[in-house]
This record gives sequence, structure tokens and C-alpha cells, in this order.
Amino acid sequence: MNIFHISFECYPIAKVGGLADVVGALPKYQNKMELTTSVITPFYDNQFVKNSKRKTIYKSTIQLGEITYPYRIEKIQSPDIGFNAYLVYIKDILDRPNVYNYEDDAERCITFQLAVLDWITALEKVPDIVHCHDHHTALIPFLMTHTNLYINLREIPTVLTIHNAQYQGQLSYDKLHYLPVFDREKIGLLDWDNCINPLASGIKCAWRVTTVSPSYMEELQENANGLEGLLRHERKKCIGILNGIDTHTWDPETDSMIISNYQKTNVVSGRQENKKWICNHFSLDIDKPLFGFIGRLVGEKGADLLPDIIKESLHTTDINIIVLGSGNSETEEQLQVLQEKYAGRYNVYIGYDEKLSHIIYAGVDFLLMPSRVEPCGLNQMYALRYGAIPIIRRIGGLKDTVIDIGEEGFGICHNNASVQDVCHAIERAITLYNDQKKYKEIQKQIMKIDHSWDRSAHQYIDIYESLRP
Ligand code: ADP
Ligand code: GLC
Repeated sequence: MNIFHISFECYPIAKVGGLADVVGALPKYQNKMELTTSVITPFYDNQFVKNSKRKTIYKSTIQLGEITYPYRIEKIQSPDIGFNAYLVYIKDILDRPNVYNYEDDAERCITFQLAVLDWITALEKVPDIVHCHDHHTALIPFLMTHTNLYINLREIPTVLTIHNAQYQGQLSYDKLHYLPVFDREKIGLLDWDNCINPLASGIKCAWRVTTVSPSYMEELQENANGLEGLLRHERKKCIGILNGIDTHTWDPETDSMIISNYQKTNVVSGRQENKKWICNHFSLDIDKPLFGFIGRLVGEKGADLLPDIIKESLHTTDINIIVLGSGNSETEEQLQVLQEKYAGRYNVYIGYDEKLSHIIYAGVDFLLMPSRVEPCGLNQMYALRYGAIPIIRRIGGLKDTVIDIGEEGFGICHNNASVQDVCHAIERAITLYNDQKKYKEIQKQIMKIDHSWDRSAHQYIDIYESLRP
């Protein structure tokens, strides 16, 4: 079976968050399971793309309203990537340094999807399944079925994976003319709350809809940022499949980004070297239990709670804290202000740094994830693999992957995204840390847990099989 994954992010081509990790890993594992997988993503003006060996394999034009855009498809010529990787080059529209946060993101998403379909429709061998990820590519199921440009793609089954329903890509009807002509009676398939809603359209038109954990699928039935009614209505074609991680990229034994490699047998000394590096680099105390946070500084991640968590826990306990993230400017500022006040005990790096994130997983004793919403969350799985104990709020994929030590598990769980709950969880973590025998036992246990895609990639294959004619 020939599967095309279509996504705005894909590690190592372009990464903002977990979407990239999933789209860079799942196809790799599927390839090993006898599927032929391809990923199609925009051509970005970034280091990875510039340094990669590429070959142009197709050139044509698409029409966005009145404007004609030439585009080309480039194939990355590197077998290491683990799947066929295709980049869609559209001058000035897609070839920009960042993935998101441009004023014309709506136009960028549409031009990308039109170019992808225009290319696929011209292929000698069309794919067996088109698998779209998030709202940026969620108009594809509608476009394939209800416009007249891609008639040979109409019977191809489509799957939409919702990585995060907070982002739906809504656009107003003054952009409707960007889409190819379609039967106006079908306009309801684009609409939600009187605007064009790509995510809602994808949920309506895709043959199957998946989310990235079973619990998140349940939660979306109650709260999906306005789409809960639609998801309840489409319940029968929806399923939650837990994400996996790429255990080759994320392997403390071979990871070239960390300071010292280690495995279960030398976990203590190996991790100590990574912790030492963090403590030297960020002026922290190697002898204190070290708590970390990595992530987008947004409300969904509970990042706005961090300043108070830091103040409260540093007053009442003897721990150190390191934060890596960027996002909401107010939170960024509050976190930076605390740097001076708590110098020697807390530090923050505002920005995105892949290497530093790996070192933090390899060096902190505990990783905080006080998320309000967490469709899956990969950080807790990376933490487990690297032997850092996760402290999570029981929500979404966090609930599906971490069991509390009080329930014969291996993590620390709390019920609310509140400063009090997190501080209480930190106190429980310190009690565990002080019992070094138990702490080390758990550390060895968590490093053995299999969170690789081997565990859940076959669930996607079952879906593809069920959709084949
Ligand atoms: P989300 O996709 O919602 O941001 P996930 O837990 O699924 O959350 O994935 C986040 C991914 O992004 C992980 O690989 C994490 O290590 C990485 N990440 C998040 N913020 C940063 C940052 N500031 N620097 C480096 N990596 C980051
Ligand atoms: C989204 C979610 C995150 C999930 C990731 C990968 O960004 O916020 O929870 O792990 O997608 O599916």
C-alpha cells in the first residue's frame, strides 16, 4: 500500500512541536511494516532544507483566485530520512524561514494543498491512502471529492489526524474564491459557525478521523473548541490512537545531542554528566533535585502557572528548576524576571533549541507537564525513555501514558492544572527522590517501557486496510 502523509511539519525538515515528531516518525515505522510511505511538506527557507540534497521531479502552476502560482516538487535525496520526502516549493509563499505566524497563513495553507493535489492528480500511480494532519491540510478531503479538478482522486480514501483541535484554521468567506469551483450545494461541508472551517470540513469529509490518544478523543466529545457537537455526530468514524516516539532518534545510548550517552546499566553516572552540564551552564546546584519544563509557553501547556509554581516551590522546598520554551510574551517576561531573583536555583532559556531539549531530558530528575489540554504529549514519553520521572496532570495523552507511583506506577500525577496541585506533586517527587533506592528502581523501570511506534503504528494500518476497496 502506498500512503501519502501531508503535513505542514515533519522532523527533521521543519519542526515547531510534536506534529513534526509524529510525521517524521510514523511513516518511518510504517515503511518497515511493508507500506510505502511518502511525506509531503512545504519547502521552507531553513538550514535543513538548504543543506539537503534535492532533485526537482515536477513543475506546474496552480490558480489561487486570479493569481497563478508556479510551483515545483522536490524530492529529498537522503535514504536516512526513512521515507520518500517531497517538498512543495512556491516562491515567496512557502519558502520562508518559519512554519507559521504569517498574516497570510490561510493563503499559504490553501496554495500548499492545491499544489499537492495538482501534483498527485498528475501522477502515474496515485496513492492508495491520503493521510492529512491537522487543519493546514484538512481541506484536502473536501477538495478531492467535491471539486472537478481532481476527478481521478475521488475514490481514494482519506484519513485526517487531529493533533490539536484548538487550531482550526478558520477563514472568512471572502477567501472562498481561492478554492476551485465546486457545487454550491456542498458549501455546508466547508462551514462551521458561518465561516470556512478547515478542521470541521476535514472531520465531515475524511473517510476516517483519528486523534492522537484515546482519552483526547473522549475529551473532544465534551469540549473541542466548538466542534464537540460535530465530533459527537461523526463519532462512528472517529478513533483515538496513542502516538508513539521514534526510539532511534530518541535513544540515550546513541543520541549525539546529549553530553554523555548512557543505558540502563550506567544510567546514574551517565545522567549525572548531563545534569552537571545543565547546572554549570545555567548556574544551578548539582546536589539539588532538578525539575525541568520544556514546551510552548501557552495556556494549553499550563505555562502561565510556571511563574507561581517557581516562586512557591522555591520558597517551600530545596529544589532547582530549569525551563526551556517560548510563546506567550507575558509568560516569557515573567519567567525572565524571576531569573535574577532566584539566580542559582532557577534559570530559563527563552527560545527553541533542539539540542538543549535533549540534554534536559537526559539531565533533569523530574519533568513538569501541568497541561490544561494535552492531545497526546511526547515530552513525557521522551522523559521516560531518558530516565527522567514525569510529573503530569491527568489529562489527554498524559493520562494514557503515565501511571502514578501510588498506583504501582512510575510517575507523579495530579488532577488539576493549578499551582497548588503542582506544588503538592513536587513535594511528593522530593519524597521519592529522598528514597534513592526506590527512585533508581523506577528510573530503570521507566527506561524499559516501550513507547515506540511499533506499539501503535499497526492501528493506522488496520484503518487503511479497512478503507481499501
Ligand atoms: P506540542 O506539539 O503540543 O508542542 P508535544 O509534547 O507533542 O507538544 O511535542 C513537543 C515537541 O517539541 C517535543 O519534541 C519537545 O521536546 C519539543 N519542544 C517544545 N518546545 C521546545 C523548545 N523550546 N526547544 C526545543 N524543543 C522544544
Ligand atoms: C499536538 C498536541 C500534542 C501532541 C502533538 C503530536 O501538537 O498539542 O499533545 O503530542 O500534537 O501529535
